[in-house]
Amino acid sequence: MGGQGLRRRLILFGAPGSGKGTQAELLRQRYDLDHIAPGDMLREHRAAGTELGHLASEYMAAGKLVPDELIVNMIRHRLEDDGDAKGFVLDGFPRTVPQARSLQELLEKMDRPIDLVAVLDVPEEELVARLSRRATEERREDDTPEIISERLRVYRVQTEPVLEYLGDLVPVLRLDGRGSVEEVNGALVQAIG
Ligand code: AP5
Ligand code: MG
Repeated sequence: MGGQGLRRRLILFGAPGSGKGTQAELLRQRYDLDHIAPGDMLREHRAAGTELGHLASEYMAAGKLVPDELIVNMIRHRLEDDGDAKGFVLDGFPRTVPQARSLQELLEKMDRPIDLVAVLDVPEEELVARLSRRATEERREDDTPEIISERLRVYRVQTEPVLEYLGDLVPVLRLDGRGSVEEVNGALVQAIG
């Protein structure tokens, strides 16, 4: 895995509503990658009534980040499970500098370096519009105006600094995330090769 310029161990990075989940799913299908999304995993835990789901639920409902230790453990197990046959796309992780450090350490031990961090840049008005639209379609409990604005604040304060940290270690590519789903997918596929 990896050689010949292929980029198949990916981090999709971006604010809430930037399209990480949508694009990760398309990349999963195209390249047969493992789609690793802590937000989805936590919602599954919550629905299944596990202890982790219970611990995470208050943070999620408030638009705050779940403590690093819980997230890093969950992701560690997931990465160890996957065998890395065709690679992975991380969607929503890492979201803090300590998470990014843990990920680097873990992947170094596994000899599975990240090939690319793709950042989906979308202006804040568009993020709010997308999440508000989703609120009427899907009813995710954290898609209310107040919680959307808290999630965006948390992104600016806790998550954006991760890019500076990763930028010293891994190639980072910023993409315009404002186009249609297909346009953004096209740009990602071109970058990934
Ligand atoms: P998480 O589930 O990761 O949510 P999020 O980051 O807030 O992001 P979203 O899933 O809302 O947006 P997205 O970028 O995936 O965009 P999407 O494709 O859905 O996290 C939820 C919570 O879990 C966190 O608040 C936290 O509590 C906890 N958590 C998760 N990870 C954690 C971590 N690492 N550490 C600690 N806590 C963690 O698109 C959004 C909408 O826009 C959709 O309706 C979609 O159809 C639409 N759309 C997508 N692309 C386009 C486009 N190009 N044009 C128009 N509409 C589009
Ligand atoms: Mg998502």
